[in-house]
Order: sequence, then C-alpha cells, then structure tokens
Amino acid sequence: MTDEKIRVLRGAVAAAIAYIETERTAPVGPPNPDAFDASLLASFSMDSPADPDAVVAALAAAGEAGAMRSTGGRYFGFVNGGVTPAALASSVLTSAWDQNAALAPMSPVSAAIDEVAARWIVDVLGLPEQSVASFCAGATVANLTGVIAARDALLARLGWDVQADGLFGAPPIDVITSAEAHVSALKAIRLAGLGASRVQEVPTDACGRLRPELMELSDRPALLVLQAGNVNTGHSDPFDAIIDRLDREKSWVHVDGAFGLWANAAPERRVHVKGVERADSWATDGHKWLNTPYDCGVFICSDSRALRSSMQMDASYVPTGAEERSLMNLGIQMSQAARAVPVWAVLATEGRAGVAAAIERCCALAEQAAARLTEASGGSIEVLAPVVLNQALFAFGDDARTDAVIEAVQASGECWVGGTTWQGRRAMRFSVSDVSTTEDDIDRAIGAVLRAAQT
Ligand SMILES: Cc1ncc(COP(=O)(O)O)c(C=O)c1O
Repeated sequence: MTDEKIRVLRGAVAAAIAYIETERTAPVGPPNPDAFDASLLASFSMDSPADPDAVVAALAAAGEAGAMRSTGGRYFGFVNGGVTPAALASSVLTSAWDQNAALAPMSPVSAAIDEVAARWIVDVLGLPEQSVASFCAGATVANLTGVIAARDALLARLGWDVQADGLFGAPPIDVITSAEAHVSALKAIRLAGLGASRVQEVPTDACGRLRPELMELSDRPALLVLQAGNVNTGHSDPFDAIIDRLDREKSWVHVDGAFGLWANAAPERRVHVKGVERADSWATDGHKWLNTPYDCGVFICSDSRALRSSMQMDASYVPTGAEERSLMNLGIQMSQAARAVPVWAVLATEGRAGVAAAIERCCALAEQAAARLTEASGGSIEVLAPVVLNQALFAFGDDARTDAVIEAVQASGECWVGGTTWQGRRAMRFSVSDVSTTEDDIDRAIGAVLRAAQT
C-alpha cells in the first residue's frame, strides 16, 4: 500500500504542478465545452473498479479543463481567495498526515499548531486577548456557532438552560440584524431556532450599514448579529454607535466578518471596522482573504466558558478534560481536518506586516479599478458605493446593459467578475481577494471591462 500511495501521490503532485504552471496564463472562466469532457469521469464504474493511476489521470484532465482559474490573480468573483505557496504546501502535507484534529490525543502535531494558530489569529485580528479561536468549515458554520453560544448565554442569564430544556417555553429574546445581513447570518439564526420572522432587520444607509438610530431596543435580552464587510460594498456596521446603545448586561454582539474582519489586521483600513473588538464573538474565514485553501472558517469568542458550555461533548471513550483545548468542544464538529495548519503556515510566512500589506494591497487595487474605470469611461461607468475595502460595485447604465457587460467579461476569459443586485439595481461585483493579484492583473481586467462596455 505504501509504495502505491507514493507512486500515485507523485502523479497527483506532478499534475498539480502542471496546473499551477498555467494558473496565470490560462483563460479565467468556465471550461471550454470541447475540452471539458465530463463524460470521461462518468465512464468510470463502481462495478469495475479502476486503477488509482488512471483515476488520478482522469481527475487531472478534468481539473485542467474544468477548474475555475481562481488562483491566478484575475478572478474577482464572489469573495473567493487564492492560495499562498505555504498554505498550499502545508495543506498537501496535512493531507498526507491525515490527522483528525478533534482533540489533542488524536494528533499531537495538529494540537500544537492549533494552539499557536488560534492565539495568532486573535492577535493579528486585534481582538481581546482572552478570546478563544477555533477552526471550522467556513463563516457560515462560525456564524452558527456564535449564534448558538449567544442564545445559550443570554437565556442562561435569565435562568433558562437551553441545553437541558430546549427552546419550547423559553423566555423570548430580541434578535437584531441589518436589512443587509448576509444570508449566512440569517441561516444561522434560523438553524439556531430563533425564527427568521422574529428578526428585527434594521434599515441601512446607501452603503449597507445598519442605521443605529433606527434600532428598536426593548427590555428583553438582545442578540445582535452585525457585519464587518458587506459582501457587495465591503462597508461595515458602525459598531461603536450600535454598541453604545446597548445594555451590555443583557446583550450579545456577534459579528459576521467573513472577510471584512481582516480590515482590523491592516492599520490603514482598521478605521472601517472601528469598535469591532467590542463584540462578544466573531466569525471569519481563512479561505477568503487570508488565502488558505478551502475549507477554513474561524470562530472567535471572548467568553470561552460560554462557548464550551454550548459545545461540550463528553463520552467515556473520549479523553478530554473540560479545560483542555479540544476543537470538538469549541465548535460544532467532532472529527475535523487540521485546518489550523495552513492558517499557521500563512501567518508564519507572512507575519503581521505581510498580512497587513496584503490586505492593504487588495484594497488599493480595488480602489484603483474603480477610479480608472470611472475616468476611462468619462463617468458613464458608475461606482455604486465608495470603495473602502476590497469590494467594488459597478453599473453600466440599465440592468440589461450591466448584465450584458458582466456576461461579455466572463466570456472574454481575461478575468472573471460576478453580478448582484444592489439596492434595486443590477451591478458588477469586483472583489480583490486573491493576494497574488498585481497591478498588471488589474490593467488586464480594466481593459476587459472597458472592451465589454464598449460593445
Ligand atoms: C459577509 C459574509 N458572511 C458569510 C459568508 C459565508 O461564508 P462561507 O462561504 O465561508 O460560509 C460570506 C461569503 O461570501 C460573506 O461574504
């Protein structure tokens, strides 16, 4: 088995290297239907098991033709990050180790790395020192973890034990978000049994920021799910103004900062998330702006005792003490990949200054794209919200025209941009989340957008 593993892995690594060699030159876009033969994979059969070398060769061909080139600097879709060299290599190594990071006795190496990475994350994000961080599948899971911990803690303060007695008959709590909360935060609220129809969705300003003066507060405990980085505009809720209005004895503030929380790691952008450290819990991603591979979410909580009391699992065969740092007791999952390893690798190679510089560079490139497109089009390309982080939103006249431009850019293969509807208007989303994006990449993207806009 070992010899076969090494032989097959060599084939996979060679194919991965061949893919990476063209990541900056191959068209960025959906696969060419002539090259992407999905039937090749369908031709394998579970009734006649294949040789692993043939399986890897088929996968390599499928990836070469059908993988979205999102790591070559000119993919501006969604908020999908690239991957740094150390992050990629560390994740290959982690796969070879095949560690279960649920608890320390299962993997001394991942436990040691996890402990350091968790500490560094809290530090680099400028969050309260006593906070505990844990790793999970993504910001959606991290949001769910936060909402559950908040729900349990707020109800415990009223003498209600959700873990023992559930939610039926529990005293009501208020749930407050903005009308521009991300769907992931709303899903977390629904899954935690708090009811979508009970949520107070506070209106926002033109940039998507919650308007604190419109928040209706009652005497009941309140869970606020705020946002660092709106997925369309990159703007954040005004944390200080919101938190100043709260009775902190009776409130829990959770921040969905899937990408925007990283602004707090960059001294020049920190102003856009001012006051974010005053929250009780935070969700963010490694796989977005930190450029670790998928998947990697991070949950951070200033009250480790509250988190543990929601997430603790005990079984006689599981050797974990209540005070021991075990990821299975700091989040939802039991078995899990050692996601801390690529996080540690990025932070170890980039350092505080490197992370700050990468965040700043992405923001500056997004600003540059907005300024140059406005100027080159004589103002006919509209920027729908001031660029403060790595997101820019463009409109090209009416909705049909904007959609046509997005489609033409996607078809060009020069770069990839997505679409959205922002406050009633169709818009092109331009998200600079791959830290390998260069000024040349922005030049090429601007050229592609201008050509599409002129046709
Ligand atoms: C603000 C915000 N929250 C949550 C999410 C969901 O993150 P994930 O896909 O990692 O679960 C996203 C994804 O784009 C996001 O932008």
